[in-house]
Amino acid sequence: MPPELEQSSHERLLTLLCDMPKAELHIHIEGSLEPELIFALAQRNGVSLAYPSVGALRAAYAFSDLQSFLDIYYAGASVLLHEADFYEMAMAYFRRAAADHVVHAELFFDPQTHTERGVPIEVVVNGLVRACEAAEAEFGITSLLILCFLRHLSEEAAFDTLDQALPSIEAHRDRLVGVGLDSSERGHPPEKFARVYARCRELGLRLVAHAGEEGPPAYIWSALDVLKVERIDHGVRCVEDPALVARLAAERVPLTVCPLSNVKLRVFDTLAQHNLARLLELGLCATVNSDDPAYFGGYINQNFVATFEALPALTAAHAYTLARNSFEASFASTTQKTRWMHALDAHFAQG
Ligand code: ADE
Ligand code: ZN
Repeated sequence: MPPELEQSSHERLLTLLCDMPKAELHIHIEGSLEPELIFALAQRNGVSLAYPSVGALRAAYAFSDLQSFLDIYYAGASVLLHEADFYEMAMAYFRRAAADHVVHAELFFDPQTHTERGVPIEVVVNGLVRACEAAEAEFGITSLLILCFLRHLSEEAAFDTLDQALPSIEAHRDRLVGVGLDSSERGHPPEKFARVYARCRELGLRLVAHAGEEGPPAYIWSALDVLKVERIDHGVRCVEDPALVARLAAERVPLTVCPLSNVKLRVFDTLAQHNLARLLELGLCATVNSDDPAYFGGYINQNFVATFEALPALTAAHAYTLARNSFEASFASTTQKTRWMHALDAHFAQG
């Protein structure tokens, strides 16, 4: 091959990151709502927005912290009213995920953002379930749903949401497999939701929670010990506590890390300062995810590429580990995980 057509090893690494099969485990489906779709749905549903144009809305995406983002994120979600809206939103995500070689996705959704506006939980779940089925048929992506409780609301409100969700959980047992905890972290420790998580555990639901994004390592401890979660969403602040790192590594508790989100929400000033490479060095089961891709400047492959470009310590071996971790950490069956890991091995063997 003429030298000008040869890919440099750096370009080969970027190609590998983009083409390797992977799972996405930390994506808020409402955070995949692009401004264009927000405006189209606002018009279709007669919802008025505080922004005059797509450009004005996009220009407002300059966040100083988690709360400044959440204010705009909840405003964006206000255009979602009908089953078709949830279906379209999720299909738009799956289309992009398929292009990024995502073979499996576990989607968070925030029912309280919708039920508070009078949208029944069944409308939300049915739209999302239909999209999950269509995504498998159209793109070959498998997917699961995780219902998140908003931690700025009360535990009583979470119990009420769980009650409302029970018929949907019953109807879609193999799809709606777990619960999570999101929204404003500071001042809302995991233990606030101890009882509702205990109930979810009794119901056989899988458990995850956001912890250690803006909140202290103590929130990661209590997510593990009080809520008994199986995965920590974000968790990047664990490095402040060596005993916690040792526990997470020994128990292989997965961390669903979201690098572009962390920079946009000022958890790290720059990607070059991100601790993803450090987390891997410490032997933690870290994964790369997009969080709220429409708001944070990129879907999963953009997270991989931008982070590897910013952190030269990251190599093809780390790419393999991150993809493998994503399968290991998923809530799919062991058979399915093994199949994905073999496909990943084959991809790296030929690359
Ligand atoms: N809801 C949507 N994105 C979130 C994030 N990054 N942290 C907490 N809650 C969220
Ligand atoms: Zn999140």
